[in-house]
Amino acid sequence: MESSPSTILLEDFGQKVDLTRRIREVLLNYPEGTTVLKELIQNADDAGATRVCFCLDRRVHGSDSLLSDGLAQWQGPALLAYNDAVFTEEDFVSISRIGGSTKHGQAWKTGRFGVGFNSVYHLTDLPSFVSDKYVVLFDPQGVYLPNVSSSNPGKRIEYVTSSAISLYKDQFFPYCAFGCDMETPFAGTLFRFPLRNADQAATSKLSRQDYSEDHIYSMFAQLYDEGVFTLLFLKSVLSVEMYTWDAGESEPRKLYSCSVSSPDDQTIWHRKALLRLSKSSLPTKTEMDAYSVDFLIESMAGNEIKRELIPFMLCKQWHRDLVGLLLSLLLRPEIMIFTSFLGHHLQHAYLTIHQIMVF
Ligand SMILES: Nc1ncnc2c1ncn2[C@@H]1O[C@H](COP(=O)(O)OP(=O)(O)O)[C@@H](O)[C@H]1O
Ligand SMILES: [Mg+2]
Repeated sequence: MESSPSTILLEDFGQKVDLTRRIREVLLNYPEGTTVLKELIQNADDAGATRVCFCLDRRVHGSDSLLSDGLAQWQGPALLAYNDAVFTEEDFVSISRIGGSTKHGQAWKTGRFGVGFNSVYHLTDLPSFVSDKYVVLFDPQGVYLPNVSSSNPGKRIEYVTSSAISLYKDQFFPYCAFGCDMETPFAGTLFRFPLRNADQAATSKLSRQDYSEDHIYSMFAQLYDEGVFTLLFLKSVLSVEMYTWDAGESEPRKLYSCSVSSPDDQTIWHRKALLRLSKSSLPTKTEMDAYSVDFLIESMAGNEIKRELIPFMLCKQWHRDLVGLLLSLLLRPEIMIFTSFLGHHLQHAYLTIHQIMVF
């Protein structure tokens, strides 16, 4: 007797990706240290932000009104990352995928592969952020948030109409920083990465590395040292600032900042040169864009502020002949030159008196 189609057993048997394994692979490919901060700066720049702030929040927040008991252990020290660009609905989709960037076909954006954000798993097992009217929490191991599973390892909460902060004050109070009040839609983005402590590292399926406050301070110091070079390649971010928020203090205290000094319309226009060119058809002849810009770096030690102004001559060039261009650059007297080549590949190079670097 033949079995009728309705009696056939269709067993669930699709191919699945083990998310924690995928994240471990991403971490192998991304070095620790300032790479994580630079990925966040780059995403903010792609989103059109002008200001990026990092803050080591050293306060230990309350744990009486949380979404679940398991979250209490993530109320301690955290890295906060603020920028003044808001997530679009497409951005929410993009960040929830690994390897699914929606930036393809947008040549002026630096992001490509849809993985850079995941370098934050070096620091934490529970990244979260607020943007517009939503707060999003990711829990790839599916162990800390209520009602999560490996097939659905995160939550998004519309916090404005649900008055989340009045119901779960301790859960959402840590996001009240850099203008975010958790009551009205936030005109920016604030990430919170609670640092993985030694106990959590011992059992984490994501990383066995714990992160201390000193770790973060040395990342800040290193980013400050590299600051000007980080800003050099950005299109819209004008300042990167680093803060500490100590227990008992009512607001964060600034440690370092690197910024474009007195940016005017001209500077802003020149920095977006790549964006303009990539939107128009590919240039057939060599195109050149040159301008000067001053970077201001500041560091605060106690009551003392150290300031330094660093002048740059920047030159962006679209050229098909890479060797010819490098030779012509070598003859130029400027202290430092930044160039872009648009041939088969888009590459960046900058040159000092002693060295040439090609990106
Ligand atoms: N203001 C913002 N700050 C940081 N990330 C943002 C912002 N707006 C959007 N994003 C999103 O974060 C996602 C993180 O992606 P990432 O893993 O770095 O991949 P990619 O940059 O290659 O798209 C981006 O695709 C983008 O949609
Ligand atoms: Mg990116």
